[in-house]
Amino acid sequence: MFAVTATRIDADDPLAGLGLGEHPDPSPPDGWETVTVRAASLNHHDVWTLRGVGISADRLPIILGCDAAGVDGTGREVVVHSVIGDPGSAGGDETFDPARSLLSERYDGTFAERVMVPRRNLLPKPAALSFEEAACLPTAYLTAYRMLFSRSGLEPGSTLLVQGAGGGVATALIILGRAAGFRVWATSRSEAKQERALELGADQVFPAGSRLPERVDAVMETVGEATWAHSLRALRPGGRIVICGATSGQVPPAELNRVFFLQLSVVGSTMGSRGELGRLLRFCEQTGARPRIDRALPLAQARDGFAAMISGELFGKVVFTL
Ligand SMILES: NC(=O)c1ccc[n+]([C@@H]2O[C@H](COP(=O)([O-])OP(=O)(O)OC[C@H]3O[C@@H](n4cnc5c(N)ncnc54)[C@H](OP(=O)(O)O)[C@@H]3O)[C@@H](O)[C@H]2O)c1
Repeated sequence: MFAVTATRIDADDPLAGLGLGEHPDPSPPDGWETVTVRAASLNHHDVWTLRGVGISADRLPIILGCDAAGVDGTGREVVVHSVIGDPGSAGGDETFDPARSLLSERYDGTFAERVMVPRRNLLPKPAALSFEEAACLPTAYLTAYRMLFSRSGLEPGSTLLVQGAGGGVATALIILGRAAGFRVWATSRSEAKQERALELGADQVFPAGSRLPERVDAVMETVGEATWAHSLRALRPGGRIVICGATSGQVPPAELNRVFFLQLSVVGSTMGSRGELGRLLRFCEQTGARPRIDRALPLAQARDGFAAMISGELFGKVVFTL
């Protein structure tokens, strides 16, 4: 079958290790099922894999891709939950299983004609969502859902700041946060992306690092080093940073004085559980919220999608279709 793989690691030139071509078909063990992929979406995770973050060379070649929507062996339209873990070992939440992995880390990912997953990881695709829309949800939107509704402690009407408005998780935070009744503020380095964040439903937008009209209840962080100092300054006393990524670097000055004096909280968040993905699908059905897709490309043109993500020119998700 045709697949997009990581063939080798190159920290400086991730595209050098991107392989497009034939790959053996999956042979699912007991309890696993093969899904015919109709759409799969790109995440920064796929670029990190090519750079060697979160994976070692002995796992290569491996098919990239965490997200997919497709059709299972019985003809049912499904969304694939990407977290492979044992909820029983972790209080019912597989994201806390120390042995958990995402598709494309230990098991082949979704950038292929077919992908195998544990049967438990298949959820019915709501008819209201297209395959392209559904394929955006399992990583970026699920991560945003958990940040907003499980980890932020915020109630509707609270004010939150989303850093780096153009990213996949950031656009998800704006769309879902708005649909849930939060007051959503967003920053971006680019004026054009600020405009588009307003179109998505942000209430106000600001250039990266600029002074805000008032302090916010929580900051949603995916950018890391480049925005960390601003995030700390943006919070009201007792406020909370929820962080799921550090695209621009992972070791900013901690500014511990500010953290304890203002009694701030820093809360990590990673992916979400199968239950949360099910609620996210229903949330989209109920509210009419839909993922923002920057572009959809045939999987054979995956290289163009990766290049756009690496250059930071995206606003929303890249979806590969089959
Ligand atoms: N923990 C998890 O479960 C989880 C899940 C999903 C993603 N993540 C992580 O979250 C991060 C974002 O993922 P994504 O897929 O949303 O990536 P993405 O679509 O590539 O988002 C990148 C965005 O970050 C901002 N940015 C990048 N470099 C910056 C810099 N130097 N200064 C300021 N802003 C910068 C940009 O916003 P502007 O251009 O608008 O300023 C850009 O649009 C990644 O590090 C990813 O690994 C983690």
